[in-house]
Amino acid sequence: MTKKHLIFFSLTLVALVVAACAKDKVNTVDIELLEKAKDTTGFVWFKYVDTLLPKSVGSSHNEPFLRTRYNNIASSQLDSDGKILANAQFPEGSMIVKELFDNTTTIGRYAILYKDSDNDFADANGWVWGYMNADGSIVEGASKKGNACISCHSQTENIDYMLMNKYFP
Ligand code: HEC
Repeated sequence: MTKKHLIFFSLTLVALVVAACAKDKVNTVDIELLEKAKDTTGFVWFKYVDTLLPKSVGSSHNEPFLRTRYNNIASSQLDSDGKILANAQFPEGSMIVKELFDNTTTIGRYAILYKDSDNDFADANGWVWGYMNADGSIVEGASKKGNACISCHSQTENIDYMLMNKYFP
């Protein structure tokens, strides 16, 4: 093997290892998001009720029912009716989970917002966007940084991206 070959093979090996690690990282963040989202400990529901809500006109999701919950950090931004405060600014560690139901009993998909500014996949406002099927398959990877989500979630009357108040007043 010539020196040129050796350099070429070494570089290829490095590239492969880097690619493999990068791929792992994407999956790790998505899977971590889903695990956190599935653990309902400390979460409270929008308006403090867990009943299923019918799909709204503002949503692009196919699922007929939904409900949204807030972890113990995010719930600091709810008022006494369980709606988002008008001037809400969600602190670091906030997680908001929208459960999307295929029918009245089965969760098909999770839409997740997680405030974690240090995350490699955080958007400009520090939010990580997760969109996963309940079986763990990825619908929209966190590495996309909310590319498919942000413009709709930036519409008028959003509060720190949140749209529940607007569509479920
Ligand atoms: C076409 C508009 C639209 C797009 C695109 C969209 N959403 Fe939403 N989203 C909504 C609306 C409207 C709501 C309020 C609940 C409802 O009506 O379903 C909502 C609610 C949510 C919530 C609950 C928190 C809240 O109050 O807004 C989360 C979390 C969420 N979406 C995540 C996502 C993610 C992740 C994506 C991208 C993969 C995404 N959304 C794309 C319209 C959209």
